[in-house]
Parts: sequence; structure tokens; C-alpha cells
Amino acid sequence: MANAYQLMTTEQLDAEIARLELLTDEIRSRGLALDMARGKPSPEQTALSRPMFDLLTSKTPLVDGNAIVDNYGTPDGLPSARALAAEILGVDPANVIVNGSSSLNLMYDLVSNAFVRGIAGEEPWCRQGTVKFLCPSPGYDRHFAVSASFGIENVPVPMGPDGPDMDVVRELVEGDAQVKGIWCVPKYANPTGITYSDEVVRAFASLRPAARDFRIFWDNAYVVHAFGDEDDQLLNIFDAMAEAGTQDLVYEFGSTAKVTFPSSGIAFVTASPSDMVHVRAAFAVERVSCEKFSQLAHVLFLKDLEGVRQHMRRHADIVRPRFELVERKLTEGIGHLGIASWTHPHGGYFVSFEGPEGSAKAIVSMMRDLGVVLTGAGATWPYGKDPRDTNIRIAPTYPSLDDLGSALDVFVVVVQLVAARLERTSR
Ligand SMILES: Cc1ncc(COP(=O)(O)O)c(C=O)c1O
Repeated sequence: MANAYQLMTTEQLDAEIARLELLTDEIRSRGLALDMARGKPSPEQTALSRPMFDLLTSKTPLVDGNAIVDNYGTPDGLPSARALAAEILGVDPANVIVNGSSSLNLMYDLVSNAFVRGIAGEEPWCRQGTVKFLCPSPGYDRHFAVSASFGIENVPVPMGPDGPDMDVVRELVEGDAQVKGIWCVPKYANPTGITYSDEVVRAFASLRPAARDFRIFWDNAYVVHAFGDEDDQLLNIFDAMAEAGTQDLVYEFGSTAKVTFPSSGIAFVTASPSDMVHVRAAFAVERVSCEKFSQLAHVLFLKDLEGVRQHMRRHADIVRPRFELVERKLTEGIGHLGIASWTHPHGGYFVSFEGPEGSAKAIVSMMRDLGVVLTGAGATWPYGKDPRDTNIRIAPTYPSLDDLGSALDVFVVVVQLVAARLERTSR
């Protein structure tokens, strides 16, 4: 269907471009300095977890079941922290390691381990020649950076409203032994905000990879991050694997980075019992044991899954109005023009915006020129190369509502100007 600019005569289009240029000149004169670049909780959100600091005092017993908190030991993490992480992910605590403060760090460790030591008795990836990772795109730039940093070839895979295109995934995973991994954010994906359908999860769980050392990197970063009344339901991939009769296929990750404090939360990983034997062995080389004070504080503060859910409802009350504002400003500003589309997530940290072909770089660059920083165009694709140059990640959580509103007002003007100019040059 033709968009509003395609329907204009050239004279009308030129007049519209002139009007939008005047608007951008006026915006430039305001000297804005706004940042919508990264998905971070706002200061109001991190303040919600400050009471956690009051729970660890010099009088707090530093034991957790049989585990000692203030000394080496318990390399898998405190039993209570493992129980909490297991409840969050819906898995058996026996298969959970809680370690460190960053799940991305655990992902890196496991890629590094596979690269240097190998998985399942296979040759280390570094001795196998070309090694590939599938990257559902648009996706999370830091995932793609981990595999790229080892010289692994990142292969984009199309992302749909229900998850990655599983026909493409199956063909590549089952047909090419060089494919060793795939990056997945199955719930409230970064950046599209979609949740994988049961059918997609079942298709993942029943993969029969050509490579024995293929693993799905299932990053469940936003598992408890609904911000409205509706919480998407994600099928548990380990249950789906039990049904499909597969095993040793998935490394699942999570953290409280966006529950308590980014960079000071607790991070966890789970996998099949036999994979966990190898994960433990790999971690044992790196660390005597893990940091446990933070684990204890988190358990005292969050207690259990119900405690986490209650806490996340407080986050939701802060986050929801920001996402509603994005929806309203985009709809009012450009919804009638037919030049762009965007996602309408029920949770997570992002809205994924699709502009006209060839527009994303120009939009991001003009926004920067007008004083609003967005995530770099292309960042959501491997090697920063968005083939159609359409995708922009909107991260609405960090700015105040006022700043977000101002940034979006600029955004809708810029999108219109770039789209109108693209139409003009195509004539
Ligand atoms: C999908 C996803 N995974 C992981 C992370 C980082 O988590 P952590 O702080 O636990 O490393 C982020 C942060 O934005 C993310 O969006």
C-alpha cells in the first residue's frame, strides 16, 4: 500500500519537506541533550532495591543451609540462591549454578570454554576451522559481539512475530556441522519484545543438530519482566525437550540485572545434568568459588518467585507509562502516514521500530544532530549491518517521562523528514 508521501504530488512533497525542515531547525535551536541509547532501568527503578542494603549487617548469620557465606566453598552458589534462580527459570536447582553478577559474562565463559576446551568431548571450536553462530535479527548486539570476538561467523536468521524462522534455523542447524550455536532471547526479546510461541519453542527443543557440540544459548533475561496486566507465557524449553526426547541442547541464562541492580545483581545458568558436569569443570578452573554476600542479600530481599513478582510489579508501575507514551507518541505522530511500523511488547526493555528502507542510519544521525542519542542504526544486526537499513531500537526506560516525551516528539519529526526526502530522491 502506498504511503502518504508516495501519494503526494512533487509540489506537495516539496512543501511538506520544507515544513519539516523548519521544524527541525527550531528543534536544533533548543540545544537538547537526551539519551535513549541503552536499555537501562531508570534511577527510580534501581531505588526500589535499595532496602536490600539494610538486610546485611554485621549481625547477619553468614550461613545458608550447610554453606558458609564468608569463606571459600559452595562453588555452585548458595543453596538458597540456586533455589531462587531455579524457581525463576522453572528448573531443578540441582542443575543451576549462580555465579557472578552478569549473565553475559557466563555466556562469554561458555563460548570461551567451547572455543578453548570443546563441548561433549569434541575438538575445541578453535581447532575446527570455520565455526558459525546463528543470530536471529534484529537481536541483541552484545550477544553478537561475544561470538564475533572469537572469530566465529555470525549468520543472521530472520525474526518473526513468534520467534526466529524455524525452517531456516532447522535447515542450518541440522544440515551444517559448522553451526555450533544460536543466540536466543525467548521472552520479551531484545529488541522486538516478542515472546517465542509454543510451536517455536517445541521446534527448538526437537532440533537434531548436525554438530554434537551445538548448543542453544537461551538467554531468558526478561523472564519476569511484564509491565502490563498481560504476561506472555513462554513454554519451558527443558519440558519441551523432555517431550521431544532430546538432551544436552540448551544453556539457559538469567540474572537479576533488571530486577535489582544492573552490574550488581546475581547471574545464573542451567543446562542438562551432563552438560552441567562440564560447566562446573570449566568454572572450577576459573574460580575457587563465587561471590556470596550479594547472593545472600538477594535471597533475603526477594525471598522467592512470589517475592520477585511483587517487586517486578513495582518496576512495572514505573516502566508501563513510558511504553504507553512511546505507543501514543508514535501513533499520533506517524501512525496515519503508513511509513513505519513498530512492536507493541507486553514486557522487557525495548520497542523495535521499522522505518522505510534505507532510513535508519539517516534517522539516527539526524537525531544525534538534534541532541537525541539513539542506539546506533544497524546495532541489532551481526557486524552492525542491517541489510535494509530499517531497524531502530527504542529504549524508553531510562529517561524521565518528560525527557522521553521530548525525545519522541523529535523522533516523529525526523522520521517524517527522512521518509519524505527518501521519496523525493526516488522520483
Ligand atoms: C537480552 C539480554 N541479555 C543479557 C543482558 C545483560 O545481562 P547481565 O547484566 O546479567 O549481563 C541484557 C542487557 O541489556 C539483555 O538485554
